[in-house]
Amino acid sequence: MKVLIITGSPHKHGTSAHLVEQFKKGAMEAGNDIFVFESAFKKVHPCIACDKCIAERRCTFKDDMDILNPKLLEADIVVFAYPIYYYNINAQLKTVIDRFYATNSKLMQTHKKVYIISAMEDDTMESADGANVAFKGMCKYLGWDLTYCLNAMNVLTAEDLKNTTYLDDAYNLGKSIK
Ligand SMILES: Cc1cc2nc3c(=O)[nH]c(=O)nc-3n(C[C@H](O)[C@H](O)[C@H](O)COP(=O)(O)O)c2cc1C
Repeated sequence: MKVLIITGSPHKHGTSAHLVEQFKKGAMEAGNDIFVFESAFKKVHPCIACDKCIAERRCTFKDDMDILNPKLLEADIVVFAYPIYYYNINAQLKTVIDRFYATNSKLMQTHKKVYIISAMEDDTMESADGANVAFKGMCKYLGWDLTYCLNAMNVLTAEDLKNTTYLDDAYNLGKSIK
């Protein structure tokens, strides 16, 4: 399977990065082909709703979405991995998702499974609900299948993952992909 992981965190070695590392390890061991796009370290301009993608079939911006777009189109599985910021997806990831707009019609013709890996300080699912609902809506709109949400709670930093099962959960999730 072609697995695309789109991360949101500006922490190179933060909580979600540790979860992604384990997911990746499992998915690679299971023989999958992995590509990681780290939104926080890429140049991606926010969508300005100019609709040039509709009128002229091209996006106004030439930036790192040119790296992501072909990977996004060919992926069988898309993993969104991010920290919760103010009860939602963090801005770096959201900026990338908004730019899907330019390839909407092509994306709708592809079938994908979507996995969520989120990290948050709070110990209540309320903090992840907003993002989960947003992904549910997005997947319905694009005709993709929201397959699994791994919402790691009570983890302010990567240190906090140590006494939890989340790292194993992420590894097993990756390993289950075939
Ligand atoms: C701007 C900002 C907003 C945050 N908002 C929330 C929040 O609403 N709920 C929550 O549980 N944690 C919140 N957090 C904590 C992060 O989600 C948490 O520290 C996470 O483990 C960071 O993951 P990372 O190291 O992968 O970036 C926030 C952190 C920042 C910097």
